[in-house]
Amino acid sequence: MSDSTSRPDSSFAARLAETASSIETALANLLDDRQRDHEIARPARLLAAMRHGALGGGKRLRPFLLTETARLFGVSPAEAMPAASAIELIHCYSLVHDDLPSMDNDDLRRGQPTVHKAFDEATAILAGDGLLTLAFEVLAGSAAKAAIRADLVLCLARASGLAGMVGGQMLDLDAEGRYAEKAVRGPTSPGEVRRLQAMKTGALLAAAVEMGAILGGASLGQRMSLSTFGQALGACFQVADDVLDVEASPDIMGKATAKDADANKATLVAAIGLEAARAERDRLATDAISALRRFGPEADTLRAAARFAAERAN
Ligand code: IPE
Ligand code: IPE
Ligand code: MG
Ligand code: MG
Ligand code: MG
Repeated sequence: MSDSTSRPDSSFAARLAETASSIETALANLLDDRQRDHEIARPARLLAAMRHGALGGGKRLRPFLLTETARLFGVSPAEAMPAASAIELIHCYSLVHDDLPSMDNDDLRRGQPTVHKAFDEATAILAGDGLLTLAFEVLAGSAAKAAIRADLVLCLARASGLAGMVGGQMLDLDAEGRYAEKAVRGPTSPGEVRRLQAMKTGALLAAAVEMGAILGGASLGQRMSLSTFGQALGACFQVADDVLDVEASPDIMGKATAKDADANKATLVAAIGLEAARAERDRLATDAISALRRFGPEADTLRAAARFAAERAN
């Protein structure tokens, strides 16, 4: 796929790196050891584990999508930073818990030992809880107008909880066959895989785009187009993750690969095969780009983000 703008790949990479660096700074400030006026204490071990889970790595794609969507409507990256930080905190919490021994049991994340390996399981659970709670503290305490703040909180809560990421994680574990034998519950159909992926991963990526639209005061029509874009990109992103589990190396991914099949994970690769999953991934990127047809060249960075979701190396 090629872009209408010049040198899309280098400018996209530079922009993503710029957001990653701003987010790193913002999260490091939120998680510094300075006790705030309203706080009794910042327990050092918990803070260290939260820093381990949130700092020093990650593509920071969710904050990037949020910031770039807000930018479409003239909102500056600085104004978008609290919401961008909040969604990355939720994402980092989801990874800390996803890696736990009782979940995916992973030892490596972003090229580092996972939080329960670097600390212990109880500390990792609390670190995830702390990151989750901090996300809503940051969002509720931001300088945005009260109505916008309430909308942002609602959007992020819906995407994160029962019918979003957490619900998807439950379906993901269930689909492994750990609660009812696969022989009893039957194989997970491609439709069921798509649904669980739309929840565990798609919801938060779509929320990143929607939160940018909320901050920008997008019209209903614009918000609907952006939401369609975010959902397609989110689906594309998880299929790419499933494909990368088969095709990529741990060195490049910064996490274990070739694990999903052994863990009996209900991936799209398992449901429809590698070739068909690759084709679906690419089709979803095209669908995402098509959803942006009402926007002009100002949305080229979002278009490049959809291509990145499909074509990324890690
Ligand atoms: C990993 O997300 C978990 C999935 C939803 C597949 P990312 O691939 O965005 O992880 P980081 O933040 O870049 O480490
Ligand atoms: C993770 O899906 C989705 C989350 C909500 C964290 P995976 O379990 O496939 O993510 P990785 O491969 O561990 O990053
Ligand atoms: Mg998982
Ligand atoms: Mg996992
Ligand atoms: Mg995976």
